[in-house]
Amino acid sequence: MAVALIVAAGSGERLGAGRPKAFAELAGRPLVQWSIDALRAAQGIERIVLALPRDRSVLRGITDRPAPPPQVSAVEGGATRSESVRRALAAAGEGDPVLVHDAARPLVSAELAEQVIAALERDREADAAIAAVPVTDTVKRVDGAGAVSETLERSELWAVQTPQVFRRAALERALDVPAEQLARATDDAWLIERSGGRVIVVPASGENLKVTTPFDLRVAELLLEERARRAR
Ligand code: C5P
Repeated sequence: MAVALIVAAGSGERLGAGRPKAFAELAGRPLVQWSIDALRAAQGIERIVLALPRDRSVLRGITDRPAPPPQVSAVEGGATRSESVRRALAAAGEGDPVLVHDAARPLVSAELAEQVIAALERDREADAAIAAVPVTDTVKRVDGAGAVSETLERSELWAVQTPQVFRRAALERALDVPAEQLARATDDAWLIERSGGRVIVVPASGENLKVTTPFDLRVAELLLEERARRAR
């Protein structure tokens, strides 16, 4: 069975919510609660560990609430995203593979989590499977003076999301590097790639968006309202 880590220890300054992003209100609930509920509903996850900011008073009602399995627990996150992953993994007990999800993607679905777990199960050679979408914008490299230096070949580009699912031993090895390297990682799959590991993509939807700015929060709210309307 899989163990799921939700990293939610970022400050989220660009959101300007006056509190850590994971606890900004989204459609009446803390942002992180949407991911917890989606992963709770996914088949094959036995435990969920959250990495949270130091002030965890906001947590009351999330991990204290009696609920059916999977069990949800929390640890204090680290100074960087990957350090938060490392701390949550250390507290996770048993469980393989390991699913890592950013609380900043509250629209994740149970189905997507199940698809990424299943993709890793199917490909015996892979160390990790990650949710991603083909890029639709043209992407250019721009130098420090604001001039374009290169246009990248769009057909080869994918925008990467979470969930990302790892064979536990591969993730533990990948995270066992100096803090400077952990600090450079904007996702955990990169840590696997750089040591020659095989990472496969699982086509996802743009609906699994990342909430960074107030605009993203508004879009997420509208999408959740539409989901609720469809469910009625
Ligand atoms: O800052 P960034 O967009 O990379 O954050 C992605 C996710 O990592 C967010 O859910 C954030 O809460 C989490 N994070 C963390 N610990 C940090 C920094 C970010 O858990 N030190």
